[in-house]
Amino acid sequence: MTMTQQSTFKPGKGIGQPVGVAVLGMGTVGTEVVRLMDEYAEEFAARIGGPLELKGIAVSDLEKQRPGVPAELLTDDAMSLVEREDVDIVVEVIGGIDYPRRIVLAALNAGKSVVTANKALVAAHADELAEAADAAQVDLYFEAAVAAAIPVVGMLRRSLAGDQVQRISGIVNGTTNYILDAMTSTGATYDDALAEATRLGYAEADPTADVEGHDAASKAAILASLGFHTRVKFDDVHTEGITKVTADDIEAARKAGYTIKLLAICEKVTNDKGEESVNARVHPTLIPSEHPLASVKESYNAIYVDSEAAGSLMFYGNGAGGAPTASAVLGDLVGAARNKVHGGRAPGDNTYANLPIAEFGEVTSRYHIDMSVADRAGVLAELATKFADSDVSLRTLRQEEEERHSRARLVIVTHSAKESKLAQIVDELSQLDYVHEINSVIRLDG
Ligand code: HSE
Repeated sequence: MTMTQQSTFKPGKGIGQPVGVAVLGMGTVGTEVVRLMDEYAEEFAARIGGPLELKGIAVSDLEKQRPGVPAELLTDDAMSLVEREDVDIVVEVIGGIDYPRRIVLAALNAGKSVVTANKALVAAHADELAEAADAAQVDLYFEAAVAAAIPVVGMLRRSLAGDQVQRISGIVNGTTNYILDAMTSTGATYDDALAEATRLGYAEADPTADVEGHDAASKAAILASLGFHTRVKFDDVHTEGITKVTADDIEAARKAGYTIKLLAICEKVTNDKGEESVNARVHPTLIPSEHPLASVKESYNAIYVDSEAAGSLMFYGNGAGGAPTASAVLGDLVGAARNKVHGGRAPGDNTYANLPIAEFGEVTSRYHIDMSVADRAGVLAELATKFADSDVSLRTLRQEEEERHSRARLVIVTHSAKESKLAQIVDELSQLDYVHEINSVIRLDG
């Protein structure tokens, strides 16, 4: 085990003292943070024990009109702003990795607490940021980095600090949930559902990070790190997006009583020798249509946590958008400001368990395999033998006639099997002359 937290008490500024805040970025989230800081200034002062004072806002374009924002607060020199004496807390809502990393590290090194909504930054550089925060004895908060307004980071850091988290699974990307939900409820194709998500402003002009699962993978890395007290980085997460999910897959799932969701799954894996490791993965997943996560519609997020004493918990709500993300940022800002006024630090990262990352081949799942095969005697028996030889046990097998003469569609659901075994059997199946096509292989959960 490794201990990563220092326990020295950091004295506060004293009740009634102002807390200087710098905001980096004035996009949808930054604009809402600044607006709400102003609108609820008195409330925040009462909750904190001293007023929040906005000292500056770093933007990339000083020429842009920003109604209601005092021009003298704007600067394009973020580095100088975060190092200013009168700044106590830096709110980073810029996005990206390299540039915010430099600014956030400079802020932490200068003794400023940092509140960030930046999942990609935290998932890639959490160790470095946590070390800088520890060295300067300041706070690093990132509630808004996972599922925006849904308080999952605080839940794992504080509420479940006395429990043993066993598994976290959830829908942590609103864009892909909107697309899959539209495909499920209207029969839309992937392309049409993506076009609608873009028109409504859910999907970005370049939706790659969402539809390829990268955004969800950053969030999975953060959730796994917190839940299992082990550093899990973006690159440790096995990631598959939704671009290959077809209307046909959705319909086949529906017929079998399942709904397809893009799930982030974080769990401990125990190997044959009883050794534990951590797996985090993101992939399209079939879940029973009566499972609580199947009822999560449109762009909503939900996180399902299994823990030893608490049992199963589910957290549901807005996982994206200016105001919901600002809510999480402001909650962190109030927390960091309270510590500046009264002294002390928030619970930081604690990666004492330091478990290894599981080999993906060792991870077990159930699988839904949809394929077109030759419709002739002996095919089913030969396939059953292939699965048995690969040590993958079959749970159900459904056969449907295909329109094309002499072909049958087989939908197989397996019992739990290792990823390595599944990869092997799928490879073997694809080489058989009587298997015309493997239409899809989708994991099953719940
Ligand atoms: N693009 C993300 C989503 C929100 O669609 O959920 C920010 O992480």
